[in-house]
Amino acid sequence: MKVYRKLLLLLFLVVAFNGYAADKSIGPSHGIAYPEGWQNWKMIGVSHRTDNNSIRAILGNDIAVKAARSGATNPWPDGSILGKIVWKDIQHEHWQGATAPGEFVHAEFMFKDSKKYTESYGWGWARWVGLDQEPFQQGMQVCISCHTPVKDRDWVFTTPAKFPE
Ligand code: HEC
Repeated sequence: MKVYRKLLLLLFLVVAFNGYAADKSIGPSHGIAYPEGWQNWKMIGVSHRTDNNSIRAILGNDIAVKAARSGATNPWPDGSILGKIVWKDIQHEHWQGATAPGEFVHAEFMFKDSKKYTESYGWGWARWVGLDQEPFQQGMQVCISCHTPVKDRDWVFTTPAKFPE
């Protein structure tokens, strides 16, 4: 009987812990799953927006980085994921002319799949806001309309930065 009780308690703990772990996971944005591990992706470029005082790192998964470094980006190959990570810009405390990353704003991603995303020009568009990575759900059209000036560049603003080989 005692063993039974212990087993029951163990079972309860396992179920409870699983529930907790599920709560901690980050939900989809526009039905697109969170691209786990992007924090370790490689760099494609950087940008600084003076109109809203923010700095950005443009990162890519392996497929995107390979395409970027070899110049095969119009169109970007299926499977590419581009990430843009945004921080407010602040002045470096020890150097007046230097800009440093301040508050984290959001991480947003373009997922290339020319067969799946025929309605949104070959890309899945998704964003996660703040350090809590709250999924953005206001619709891909918000993204698409602002990216229209670069529709002839496969909807991508960034020109990959040059790296010494
Ligand atoms: C207000 C206009 C605007 C909106 C809205 C917008 N973007 Fe962008 N996006 C830009 C600009 C400008 C750049 C290039 C400069 C930079 O890096 O910020 C860019 C760059 C990007 C990049 C890096 C690749 C590239 O195109 O250079 C990604 C990824 C991205 N946006 C995703 C999104 C997603 C996803 C959404 C919607 C959730 C979105 N954007 C909404 C203006 C916008």
